[in-house]
Order: sequence, then C-alpha cells, then structure tokens
Amino acid sequence: MTTKTSCADFVQFFRSWVSDPLRVAAVAPSGERLARLMTQEIEPLDGPILELGPGTGVFTRALLARGIPESALTLVEFGEEFAVRLRGRFPEARVVQMDAAQLGQCGFFDDAPFGAVVSGLPLLSMPPSKVTAIVGGAFETMKPGGAFYQFTYGPRCPVQKSILESLGLEGKRIGGTVRNIPPAGVYRISRQNPLELSIGGSKYRSTREGVGISGLMPEAGNADTGRPEANA
Ligand SMILES: C[S@@+](CC[C@H](N)C(=O)[O-])C[C@H]1O[C@@H](n2cnc3c(N)ncnc32)[C@H](O)[C@@H]1O
Repeated sequence: MTTKTSCADFVQFFRSWVSDPLRVAAVAPSGERLARLMTQEIEPLDGPILELGPGTGVFTRALLARGIPESALTLVEFGEEFAVRLRGRFPEARVVQMDAAQLGQCGFFDDAPFGAVVSGLPLLSMPPSKVTAIVGGAFETMKPGGAFYQFTYGPRCPVQKSILESLGLEGKRIGGTVRNIPPAGVYRISRQNPLELSIGGSKYRSTREGVGISGLMPEAGNADTGRPEANA
C-alpha cells in the first residue's frame, strides 16, 4: 500500500482478495515505488497505452504522473468491482471489463496499436496456455517497438523462457524494490527483432516460421479463459 493509496482503496482491495484470492492475488495494492518502476520508461510520445489488471489504479496514476493523457489509456480489468471504480475515477480512459486472455481474439484494439503495455496480472500461477494468450495477444495490439512491463514477486521473469522464445520475445529485469508488500521485481518484455516482426504490418508474428499468435493460442473451444489464478 502507498501513502497515496486511500484507506478505502486498501479496504476494497482486501475485500476483493478475500472474495476472490485467486484472481486478485495480493492483499494490498502495489506501492508507489513499484508503480514508478513499472512506468519509468513510458513517455507521452509512446501514444496509447494499455494497462492489464489495474485493480484500484496505482499504475494508472503513475502513468498520468508521467504526463500520459488519461484519454490515451485503455484499462482491461476482469473484476467488476474494480472496473466500476476505475470508470468513476478515470472517466476519460477506456475501461474494458474482460479477461486479458481474450486480447488477441476480441478485435477491439485493431485500429490504434499501443506503444506499451503495463501489466499487474498474476501471471506466475496462470497456466502456460493462458500466459501465452495474454502476452502474445498483447504484442498483437502493440507497435513494433512496444514493450510489455510486468512485475513479479518471484526471483525471475514470470513469463517462462520457452514461452518467450516461442513468441520471439525476450525479458530483461529493469528494477526491483523492497519497499512493496511483498518486495517485487520489474521486467521489460520486448520483441527480439522488432523491425523484422513489423514486416507485413503492425500485426505480431512469431519468429517460428509461419506461426502467428493465433497458431500458438489454444483453440477457442479449449481456451483457458476461466477464472484467473493467484500470485503475480
Ligand atoms: C495483483 S492485482 C494488481 C492490481 C494493481 N495493478 C496493483 O498493482 O495494485 C491483479 C489484478 O489483475 C486483475 N486480473 C486478474 N486476472 C485478470 C485477467 N485474466 N484479465 C484482466 N484482469 C485480471 C485482478 O482483478 C486484479 O485487479
């Protein structure tokens, strides 16, 4: 919890965790220091920004503090209780209540590719198929040079190496803080070959020959799009 996180936010977050611990995966909102680390490389010139799993909006506020216009933000949040509050708090942002695993399939984000993705999702305990759908889908919506920022409470990148490689991506730790409950590290995930991958338009393609993200995602009928799971 941060000094700027209100008591009401803390209470709501804690209640959400009690009612759905697997989805919320933390007992308190992220701290201000972590929010600054997560957003440190993002600039207003990057264009529209996508945030996944904003919760009470700690990273959203940090993005605004960096000069990103509220109208340039799209917030994808699965929890209705958070989505309602986010709409009231950030009226100019686009708030979409949906499972982030549907990003690559929903077609909502085709017109204006994002410059960066900031994710507070609990990726560590999601099954690999779901992580692949989320990260691959996010890169489908991003400009060639765009990056995906993710925090983790674990000691290494929360996206497995095999998933990164299958999607033509690489992960690099760009910071960490002990001034968070619990302490957390921040990773930047980016394309290994951004220019090569931009050939043929802004749509993401894997470096595996002939395999787009749709080929790496589970089939619609088998898609693991149910309840998200615990721990970032
Ligand atoms: C660990 S909390 C992080 C909240 C906030 N970003 C923070 O750092 O304080 C995880 C957030 O992701 C949301 N979430 C979990 N699974 C999701 C999914 N599949 N799609 C969209 N949001 C999801 C939860 O509702 C919750 O708001």
